[in-house]
Amino acid sequence: MNILFSFILLFSASCVVSYTIQDQFYQCITLHSDRSIPFSTAFFTPTSNATSFNSVLKSTAQNLRCLTPSQQKPLLIFTALIESHIQAAVICAKELKVQLRVRSGGHDYEGISYTSEMKRSVSFILLDLAKLRAIKVDIEDNSAWVQAGATIGEVYYRIAEKSKTHGYPAGLCTSLGIGGHITGGAYGKTDRLLDVMNHSFPELGLTQKDCIEMSWIQSVIYIAGYPSNIKPEFLLQGKSLFPTVNFKAKSDFLRVPVPVTGLQGMWEKFLQDDSPMMIWNPYGGMMGKISESSIPFPHRKGVICKIQYLTAWTDGDKKTADKHINWIRGLYEYMGTFVSKFPREAYVNYRDLDLGMNRNANSNFLEASVWGKKYYKNNYDRLVLVKTEVDPDNFFWHEQSLPILPFKVGQDGKSLIH
Ligand SMILES: *[C@@H]1O[C@H](CO)[C@@H](O)[C@H](O)[C@H]1NC(C)=O
Ligand SMILES: *[C@@H]1O[C@H](CO)[C@@H](O)[C@H](O)[C@H]1NC(C)=O
Repeated sequence: MNILFSFILLFSASCVVSYTIQDQFYQCITLHSDRSIPFSTAFFTPTSNATSFNSVLKSTAQNLRCLTPSQQKPLLIFTALIESHIQAAVICAKELKVQLRVRSGGHDYEGISYTSEMKRSVSFILLDLAKLRAIKVDIEDNSAWVQAGATIGEVYYRIAEKSKTHGYPAGLCTSLGIGGHITGGAYGKTDRLLDVMNHSFPELGLTQKDCIEMSWIQSVIYIAGYPSNIKPEFLLQGKSLFPTVNFKAKSDFLRVPVPVTGLQGMWEKFLQDDSPMMIWNPYGGMMGKISESSIPFPHRKGVICKIQYLTAWTDGDKKTADKHINWIRGLYEYMGTFVSKFPREAYVNYRDLDLGMNRNANSNFLEASVWGKKYYKNNYDRLVLVKTEVDPDNFFWHEQSLPILPFKVGQDGKSLIH
């Protein structure tokens, strides 16, 4: 009996060591799926086939800076084919104690949906949603149900296909995934250009004659900067027309006008880089009428505009990268005098790891509040409470994820240790 028992123990122990995490994950997914999936159709590892692994990893990676050899890569990429694969991926990653990162369109600025900047090694599996991109538009009730891997370009096309008078204000980059767009509280344009110009800048005398009239879907293509002969069907490819580059970006919010001397200094800095870019998005109007605490996005009343700074480069040389990154950090430091303070607000969908990083899964409330308050202002505290409630083990974490509290706050406001 005793011998048999230790034999079984030995046997099962040797079974466990002979399988890699990748094998175990595949077996676990198979166990939790109602249909079997051949490994090669949805699972990609650097060891099983490096060529296809790299090509899937790169397929939607929008920032080449995040694919350099020093960035940690996933142990395995799982391109989920049906919704229940997502639940299975969470169960299996949790069981195997391996981190899960989730990628929709791959546009996140620091690439943390598919690589990791952690100094210490982290083992993670990439759950890629690129194959979950169904879109169902219902014009009758003005709704669209969209799977998280679809791009906004596809959503635009499917809406325009059903109606000439409906639209959806979202991003300019049509290859942007809807998952990241929505979870980061993204924005889009709803133009009333003539009215606004006539009301606020009548001296410029803008009239209908100065404008080109076009359908909404044509305007999407026009504003995204695509050539005018591109057909809207292009949007269904979910791809960008432009080559992928290395880039670094930062953001600010302006609450008081920048004095003329400040603008002069800004231009001087600006011209020190060979590919500088800056985008100022006007705020006010409806943006200021919604209370700061009504949804996580807090940059509301009193904001004049949002600023995005950006610099891009094409070669993979570290010296080139350092030059551009140092330049943008210098510009950001200079602008500190003029922009919002306490906190210096930042936009979460222009994620910037210079603002601070979790060191590991044991993220710290105070440390994380440094960037958390910039992104969410006072909503940070409430978001941490929600996070603590719904993910008490901090299973979903990354470089700038919300931390959990080391204790639980009861409904009566008293704290309960958990
Ligand atoms: C690896 O993947 C590539 C592209 O996906 C394919 O062409 C090639 O045949 C695969 N190699 C092996 C050894 O399976
Ligand atoms: C601008 O506003 C004025 C006053 O409301 C109006 O008379 C005029 O027609 C408007 N012009 C345009 C181009 O909308």
